[in-house]
Amino acid sequence: MDAIMIQLAGVTKAFGETVAVRNLNLTVFRGEFLTLLGPSGCGKTTTLRMIAGFEKPTEGEILLDGQPVEGLPPYRRDVNTVFQHYALFPHMTVLENVAFGLAMKHVPREEARRRALEALEMVQLAGFEGRRPRQLSGGQQQRVAVARAIVNRPKVLLLDEPLGALDLKLRKQMQVELKHLQQRLGITFIYVTHDQEEALTMSDRIAVMSGGVIEQLGTSEEIYHRPRTRFVADFIGETNLFTGQVVALSASGLTVETPALRLTVPATPEVSAGALVHVSVRPEAIRVRPEDASGSHGALVGAGTVGSNRLSGRLLEKTFIGAATRLVVEVDAGQLVTVQTHNGDSHSLRQGSPVTLTWEPEDSAVMVA
Ligand SMILES: Nc1ncnc2c1ncn2[C@@H]1O[C@H](COP(=O)(O)OP(=O)(O)OP(=O)(O)O)[C@@H](O)[C@H]1O
Ligand SMILES: [Mg+2]
Repeated sequence: MDAIMIQLAGVTKAFGETVAVRNLNLTVFRGEFLTLLGPSGCGKTTTLRMIAGFEKPTEGEILLDGQPVEGLPPYRRDVNTVFQHYALFPHMTVLENVAFGLAMKHVPREEARRRALEALEMVQLAGFEGRRPRQLSGGQQQRVAVARAIVNRPKVLLLDEPLGALDLKLRKQMQVELKHLQQRLGITFIYVTHDQEEALTMSDRIAVMSGGVIEQLGTSEEIYHRPRTRFVADFIGETNLFTGQVVALSASGLTVETPALRLTVPATPEVSAGALVHVSVRPEAIRVRPEDASGSHGALVGAGTVGSNRLSGRLLEKTFIGAATRLVVEVDAGQLVTVQTHNGDSHSLRQGSPVTLTWEPEDSAVMVA
C-alpha cells in the first residue's frame, strides 16, 4: 500500500468570502480506504468535488497517480463518484443504467452488457438487470449506483455519504458490503461521512476535518485512542474531558491538576511542565464499584505516584442501552463523568449511591489546550 494514488498539495478552495477548504495536504495510497469525516460544512464535499474535477482549486495542486489533473474535465479523470442522491435514470433499466457510462465511451454493445452484468453481480444484484429503478428498494438502488461507478474500473472511487438515505440496519449491511467490494477490487476509495461509527468501522485511515482543515489523520485506533486535539476527542465517540495544568513530569507519567482533581496520565513527549492540557477518558475505560469502605473522599492518588486514577462520587443516572449500561456520576469535585459498563458490573448500584471510579493512566489521552 505504498504507492501514492492521490496527492493534494496546499489545496485551498474559496467561494467568495467563504473558505471551504484551507491549505489542505493529503496523500492517499493505492488501494487505500480513506475517509473524510467531519461536521456539516467542514469542506468534505468540496474536497471530493475538486478531486473529481467538478470544482477548481483556488490554490494548490492535485495529482492523480502521479499526474497533475489541473484542466482535466471530470470525464477525463480516472475517477468516479457515488453521491448520496444517486440519481439513476428512471426510464432506463438497471442494466442500461449501469452500462450507460460504457456506451458513452463507445464500448461495443455486447462487451458493455457483459461488463454491466458482472458489475451487478459484484453488488449482489444478479437477476435485477431488467427492472426499473422505481421497482427497487433504497438499498438496491444504492447498489445500482455503486455498480454504475465501478463498471469501468476507475482507479479511484469517491463516495459522498452514499449510505445517508438508508435506515440503520441496511446501512450497517451496506458498510460491510462496500468494504468487501473495495478490498476485492483493490480500488482506492475516498469516502465521505459525518457518521463517526461508520468511519471507524470502514476506514484504513480517517482524516478528521473541521473548518476546512484536517485536524488529524490516522488509523481508526489512533483517532479513537490518541486524539490530538480536543475537537477530535469530542467529535469521535463520547468522552470525558478534564482541563488542567501539568504539575509533575516523570518517565512513567504526568500529573495533571484541575481546580478540584489530580489525574495521572501517560507521559507525552510534546507536553511540558506547566502546560495547560485537556485529558480525555472514554466512558468504557472507566470502572465503577460501590464506594470503597476506606472512603477516599476528594481527589485521588498523590502527586507523582503512578497508579490508577481514582475518583469518588455519587451515581446520578443509570440507563440501560442494550449491550451496556450508561452511568452518569457526579464526582466530588462537581464534574459529571459518563461511564459505560457491561451490564453485570453495575447491577448492585442504585441511583444516589456513593461510587468509586477508577481507570489506568494509559486509558486516557492528553492534548495541549
Ligand atoms: N458552490 C458554493 N458556493 C458558495 N459556498 C459554498 C459552495 N459549496 C460549498 N460552499 C460552502 O463551503 C463550505 C463547505 O461546504 P461542503 O459542501 O464542502 O461541506 P460538507 O463538509 O460536505 O458538509 P455536509 O456534511 O453538510 O455535506 C460550507 O460553508 C458551504 O456553505
Ligand atoms: Mg457534503
